[in-house]
Amino acid sequence: MEQIAENTTSLSQRYLTSASRLPIAIFYTVICVILLVGWQANLSSYITAESGIGYALGLAGGIMMLIMLLYSLRKRLHCLRNLFPTKYWFRMHMVLGVLGPTCILFHCAFSLGSTNSNIALFCMLIVAISGLVGRYLYSQIHYGLYGSKATATQIKADFISSSQRIEALYSLYPDLDQKLFRIDVSALEKKQNIASQFLNLFSYAIRGRFELYSALRALSKAKSALAKHENWDKKETRKFYNEAKKRLSIYYSTVRKIIGFQFYERMFSLWHVLHIPLFIMMIISGVVHVFAVHLY
Ligand code: HEM
Repeated sequence: MEQIAENTTSLSQRYLTSASRLPIAIFYTVICVILLVGWQANLSSYITAESGIGYALGLAGGIMMLIMLLYSLRKRLHCLRNLFPTKYWFRMHMVLGVLGPTCILFHCAFSLGSTNSNIALFCMLIVAISGLVGRYLYSQIHYGLYGSKATATQIKADFISSSQRIEALYSLYPDLDQKLFRIDVSALEKKQNIASQFLNLFSYAIRGRFELYSALRALSKAKSALAKHENWDKKETRKFYNEAKKRLSIYYSTVRKIIGFQFYERMFSLWHVLHIPLFIMMIISGVVHVFAVHLY
């Protein structure tokens, strides 16, 4: 029993959305609002990049983007390994990767300038947007953003254990069993081209959601009949229902991970190949920009 409870906890930790998504959603919403307001306001009448607040924002944004690169150093330098867990460095990278470019957009008052500054600005925007794409891909091949890297073996084991937990649940109510989406786990091993992987993922994104919804509805309908049959009181029924919902959600998440794993792994390595040269271009154009504005 204890083993099952432990298994449930580790599966939930790996597959269920944690409550900590709210602060992240608030952070991104606030940034979007600030950017929208800044873009709509006629900032160039109040802010100039050469002096005052405009200059300070440029400096702040530049420093933030330098500090965020410490994440790369932390990954590579042994002497930094014991200094805070990687997840804090990664979080710092992502937060400053958004705040830095935001400061720079206010520094230039959302308008274009000389050629060298425009190149630096576009390189920075492309790298920051690419960072957001990378964040999504990274979260798909890890267990969340700060969890360990997923492996095909681990996902398969999770899928099997989550299927067993579902079967145990459905042995109580066989009708429900027919509503369950079945997947052949050997899909993980099959080599497919990237287009088929994408199509599979896309169709499951729609189908899986629909099936999870209909399985949950069937479960909700079955709940009272089951409670009567098993002689459960209200508390026991609620406990069963919540546990069943959790098992179903985990099951569908493991299926999604199985279907998407190969695709996201490929996309992430492609992303890395693009992101690094873009980043180098950004650094070069940023340095040229800083020298140019201070020399001339
Ligand atoms: C101008 C802003 C940014 C710059 C210059 C930048 C730069 C970099 C660099 C150089 C790497 C490679 C790290 C390495 O493998 O050592 C990287 C990785 C990454 N960045 Fe950024 N980034 C920026 C913005 C962002 C943003 C806004 C996000 C997400 C919110 C983000 C998420 C990521 C992710 C997920 C990785 C992969 C991490 C890994 O493989 O360990 N980046 N970034």
